[in-house]
Amino acid sequence: MSAVLPALLAPARTARDLAPEAAARLLAAARATPSAENHHFAQPRWDGQGTLSLDLDPAWDALPRQTRFLASMGVGAMAENLQLAAAGELAVLHEQWNWRATAGGTVATFDVAGGLGTAPAAIGTIARRCTNRQLFDPAPLDPTLVRRLDRAAAGVPGTVLHWITARPAMRAVAALAATAEGARFVNRTLHDEIFAHVRFDVGWERGCERGLPPGALAIERPMRPLFSLLRHWPLCAAGRWLGLGLGLGLRAGRLPALRSGALVAISAGDAGIKDAVHTGRAMQRLWLAATEAGLAVQPIPASCLFTLDWWQGVPPALRARLARGWESLIPGRQPLMLMRLGHAPAPAVRAGRPAE
Ligand SMILES: Cc1cc2nc3c(=O)[nH]c(=O)nc-3n(C[C@H](O)[C@H](O)[C@H](O)COP(=O)(O)O)c2cc1C
Repeated sequence: MSAVLPALLAPARTARDLAPEAAARLLAAARATPSAENHHFAQPRWDGQGTLSLDLDPAWDALPRQTRFLASMGVGAMAENLQLAAAGELAVLHEQWNWRATAGGTVATFDVAGGLGTAPAAIGTIARRCTNRQLFDPAPLDPTLVRRLDRAAAGVPGTVLHWITARPAMRAVAALAATAEGARFVNRTLHDEIFAHVRFDVGWERGCERGLPPGALAIERPMRPLFSLLRHWPLCAAGRWLGLGLGLGLRAGRLPALRSGALVAISAGDAGIKDAVHTGRAMQRLWLAATEAGLAVQPIPASCLFTLDWWQGVPPALRARLARGWESLIPGRQPLMLMRLGHAPAPAVRAGRPAE
């Protein structure tokens, strides 16, 4: 009797509702999405029936513009994961976006709109996807594979994928990446921004639910003590005059870009929140397809983002130099994301996620 009553009192389910276990799997897929700081500023929610939503953090409006911009890419990636996970449950989600959403508001809802015939095989890829910051095999990716990945990531409104596979172009992009990544260590605002999210407290062997575990950063063992010291700004400020920016730009930007099988820039119409969401969505489509193909992936978007005139902490000369560089590579387009792809062993340490 006691087992029957709750079932009788529960609202009747329709073909467009989600079973609780299916909804839990969808929410887990949304949480598994990548985010710049390994923290989501939008929370996935289920209404107990057929609607899922993404709700902005209560502190959203007070976040710096660049944090909201990066978080919006995470929101786009979440939408992509939700659709893919729903397809795994044989459901199609109808999306509605509220581009004017503010703190605590719902930016997107996803209603079960009907059933699919077959589940795509890609669903397990959501859990396998991760950021791999090691140096990859520099052998060029097979052109057939590149075409397949391009097709998989195509179709997100306003976005264009720019494949950079020829060596001279890869060298040009590697120079831009070196400039931008090096600048992160010798400009106070950029320095503080990056080190604020590195969780030195968890040590080098473990992951963590929020922030970046140092072990996932692919820093060579002998370099780890030096890297730990770099979190102290006065040291970087002094090192600036000794070429620290050049050295770290080489290690964090140029080498990783060159030690890749291909680079892909993603451009979007402008640089509004909608463009960020769409860029994040295209990024995630590509990342999942690449994971499915057994490739390692790392986003290295600093050289793109530092071209935005409102990005704080970027000296005007650096911004102009990066903008000129990108303009010569992809004329008339605004790059918002840069990804490197290639073959590499799985990383020993990965970022985790909170359970709920
Ligand atoms: C918008 C965005 C920007 C990112 N930028 C960088 C970056 O500049 N360098 C980097 O190594 N990883 C970058 N990442 C990867 C995140 O740090 C990573 O997704 C997060 O720590 C969670 O780890 P996971 O991808 O292994 O799940 C970025 C991810 C996103 C979504």
